[in-house]
Amino acid sequence: MVILKKAIKFSVLIMMVVTFIISGLTGIASADDQKGKTDQASTELYNKIKKRGYLVVGLSANYAPMEFHATVKGEDTIVGADVSVAKKVAHDMGVKLQVKEMDFDALIGAMKTGKIDMIISGMTNTPERAKEVLFSKPYMFEKQAMVIRKSDQDKYKGILDFKGAKVGAQTQSVQAQIAKQQLPNAKIMPVAKSNYIAAEIVNHKLDAGVLASEVAGSYVYQNKSLKVIYPKFVTPTAPTAIAMPLHATALKAQVDKSVDQIQSQKLFPKYLKDAYQVQKVNQSFFAKYNKFFIDGTIWTLAFAAISVVFGSIIGTLLAIMKIGTSFILKAIANVYIEFIRGTPLMVQAFMVFFGTQIIGFNLSPFVAGAIAMAINSGAYVAEIIRSGINSVSDGQSEAAASLGLNRSKALRYVILPQALKNIWPALGNEFVTVIKESSVLSVIGATELMFQASNVQGASFKPFLPIFIVAMIYFVLTFGISRILNIIEKRFV
Ligand code: ARG
Repeated sequence: MVILKKAIKFSVLIMMVVTFIISGLTGIASADDQKGKTDQASTELYNKIKKRGYLVVGLSANYAPMEFHATVKGEDTIVGADVSVAKKVAHDMGVKLQVKEMDFDALIGAMKTGKIDMIISGMTNTPERAKEVLFSKPYMFEKQAMVIRKSDQDKYKGILDFKGAKVGAQTQSVQAQIAKQQLPNAKIMPVAKSNYIAAEIVNHKLDAGVLASEVAGSYVYQNKSLKVIYPKFVTPTAPTAIAMPLHATALKAQVDKSVDQIQSQKLFPKYLKDAYQVQKVNQSFFAKYNKFFIDGTIWTLAFAAISVVFGSIIGTLLAIMKIGTSFILKAIANVYIEFIRGTPLMVQAFMVFFGTQIIGFNLSPFVAGAIAMAINSGAYVAEIIRSGINSVSDGQSEAAASLGLNRSKALRYVILPQALKNIWPALGNEFVTVIKESSVLSVIGATELMFQASNVQGASFKPFLPIFIVAMIYFVLTFGISRILNIIEKRFV
């Protein structure tokens, strides 16, 4: 009965705290929405950018020849015709260019929350989007095509031939719409990155893909087992333009000037040619991509180190709160630990990434990822430490008390040193876990091993090799680190 009462009391408390947090957050969110709207109308984004000295352009770099990753002078670089457009726009405004990469379907949201100033990502000006964003004049026209395996060229000729076929299209793209409406008998598969479509056709995961003709041409150029076909879609060509926030009229006027020049000086065909030039460079897989894996490894280790250090600090504090005598501190620690352990790290990463944006902090994916990891790891470390402390027998604290040590001194000099011995292996495990867990941070665009693997998958059309390499790297890291921790345990603890 007593336990039941306690449990009810406790869950009511948790619910109250959670409701409090949520209502606080939504309050902030709506206040911020209001503020955002008036801000946008009064202080023009254009002035802000000029004052800041750099323009933040968002794009989804998986759309060769418009935007894609390439190794230029040994460095992983985002290049392509859209990047040239972005450079021109920034140059004409007299500011520097900063490119932010994310999935195509995240771009408009990112612009609305102020993470990027504009989108230059092969984006089609459609009536639905024009309600959400302000488009520049078009700088290109996109024609729709399909990519199939060359060996299937007799099978797929017209729209009706795709009955039952698996057809890929990029999530939330115009091509996805066309596929859904005009290939009614096909199984349409949304794919986050458009270069995966080509890779999956090569690997028989898909039979075909709907892609803009330039992009389709570029994939076929890189992989000779593919073929571009032009089924008769009823949407023949569509204008590609730069997207800006709805109220940014002065910015649009300036951007349109650059677009006019791109048109009148016939710059775009030149930009495309430069992009093809980069794709042409023939190198071996490892020469092309080793930098991706090395960078990924360094970032993954950085994430793990940061989260273990800060996770241990947070965890120790929480454990002390939990075994202490204050009911409030105990409750806070309990709610924290239960909430964090009861929700996926991926969700927490999104909450930190977008939540901080709402309250006015513009964190990079790295910082947001590191915070999410530290918060997450803290909850687990807290439990490890608490159980370590509990594992020290009661006799020890009684002995400490009889020596005249107070509670905190007893904890510090008697209990914790002994607990550490029991905690160490579990803490080492946590470090190893954190290395593996950091792989989910690729969802917020943080560069780490998994993120790099998917970049290489898309760029190389090889679905397995990059993942295999990354698996080996993870294994070497985790195995190596647990060996090292074992040695330390034997020697020192
Ligand atoms: N033009 C198409 C659209 O606006 C696809 C653009 C995809 N762009 C990209 N960078 N992946 O829907």
